[in-house]
Amino acid sequence: MTIAPNSPGISAANPGLPSPASNRAEIRNGVSETPVPVSETAAAAAAPSVLFESQPVPATLPVAAPGVDATNLAALTRPDFPLLSQIACLGQPLIYLDYAATSQKPRQVLEALQHYYGHDNANVHRGAHQLSARATEGFEHARDKVATFVGAASAREIVYTRNASEAINLVARTWGETNLREGDEVLLSVMEHHSNLVPWQLLAARTGCVLRHAGLTDSGELDLEDFRSKLTDRTRLVSLVQVSNTLGCLNPIAQLAPLVHDAGALLLVDACQSLPHQRVNVAELGCDFLVGSSHKFCGPTGMGFLWAREALLEAMPPFLGGGEMIQDVGLDTSTWADLPHKFEAGTPAIGEAIGMGAAIDYLQAIGMDRIHAWEQQLTRQLFSRLQAIEGLTILGPTPEQQPDRAALAAFHVQGLHANDLAALLDSAGICIRSGHHCTQPLHRHYGLSGTARASLGFTTTPEEIDRFAEELRSTIGFLREHS
Ligand code: ALA
Repeated sequence: MTIAPNSPGISAANPGLPSPASNRAEIRNGVSETPVPVSETAAAAAAPSVLFESQPVPATLPVAAPGVDATNLAALTRPDFPLLSQIACLGQPLIYLDYAATSQKPRQVLEALQHYYGHDNANVHRGAHQLSARATEGFEHARDKVATFVGAASAREIVYTRNASEAINLVARTWGETNLREGDEVLLSVMEHHSNLVPWQLLAARTGCVLRHAGLTDSGELDLEDFRSKLTDRTRLVSLVQVSNTLGCLNPIAQLAPLVHDAGALLLVDACQSLPHQRVNVAELGCDFLVGSSHKFCGPTGMGFLWAREALLEAMPPFLGGGEMIQDVGLDTSTWADLPHKFEAGTPAIGEAIGMGAAIDYLQAIGMDRIHAWEQQLTRQLFSRLQAIEGLTILGPTPEQQPDRAALAAFHVQGLHANDLAALLDSAGICIRSGHHCTQPLHRHYGLSGTARASLGFTTTPEEIDRFAEELRSTIGFLREHS
């Protein structure tokens, strides 16, 4: 547990003031040892001795029911996702194929949120009371889970942010403004999400640094030759997506990291689309910064994180100023809290951090390698169904060209608008995304204003992919007939 130094009276060894002996509950790991059934709430309110007790979050993680094939992760996990069992309009089962935009949340995450707000809600790092101690414990324990999830050396290297965009803005505003001068270069790629383009554009306007963009191969992968030619002794930072939300390609970060470092630059990785689908380890990638967003990997919205090597974070100035991020405040000057709190001004998203921790528990109980293997199977099925549709073109590499590519397909159909496809599929209960998917420059590169995109998760069933492909085929036929 990490406690900000600006929390008088609270230490890791003493997570809260003792309650009076008459009503003290034994608190370990942020929850009481003695669960209180909900039906006893009224009795608890009348009896001070249990007022401070808290129900443990049910530790129910996906376990194969008898007779369920454990390699079919959809069969294993669907009971945890009640949202996916709903009936859409016209009595059709809802089919959700928009995981790249946001994932659905298992009940374990919903229960963790409910538990926090129902039992432990208090502000963190501030109060001397036991609710604050429990909230702080849960909040910081979630940080430990994120650190383990990405292979960080310590939880001090994990800074909570609202999302990945905020994490990239944090690096641009703090590291970027401190280290970049006119003429320095930041190397990006044409496939970047707007969140990995616009913060650098703002930085370029402030500092005069120059943005360069590596191009693509014909198969829709990062052009390594072009990348190498644009990586020069003027490059100070390279910022790349690990998995493209539109092309689905997996960029060879571990292969690029030594080249970036040899050029004297640092490497930031946008892991939003890789974290939900495969094992991500910052030490193996060899990067210097990595950002992620909780809602993409089964956690709540409004929560993300920045990982950076501790020495870098130590050297960076604060991002936002306010409560929580200070050591000592005078009227004219202040000093900063230790890592990572130096970067976390104001009351944070406490329940959301705890929910993100529950999402990580859930994913790790399944196993990221199993998720990746199952989704590779689904990807091959998705491609074979879509490739059989005349006039349909998928962006990015095929699974044959890149077996590790992500489980999504952004496509366009000759003569038809992506929004029409998505709207008609929606009326059949099928949710896909249409538009530029926050990669407008990439779409322009292909001369397109937008594409339709089906993106899968481990809860997707092979039957859903088949039904999607059939509905898509008949929708295309209908639109061609009526246009
Ligand atoms: N950028 C997110 C997507 O890919 C929202 O859909």
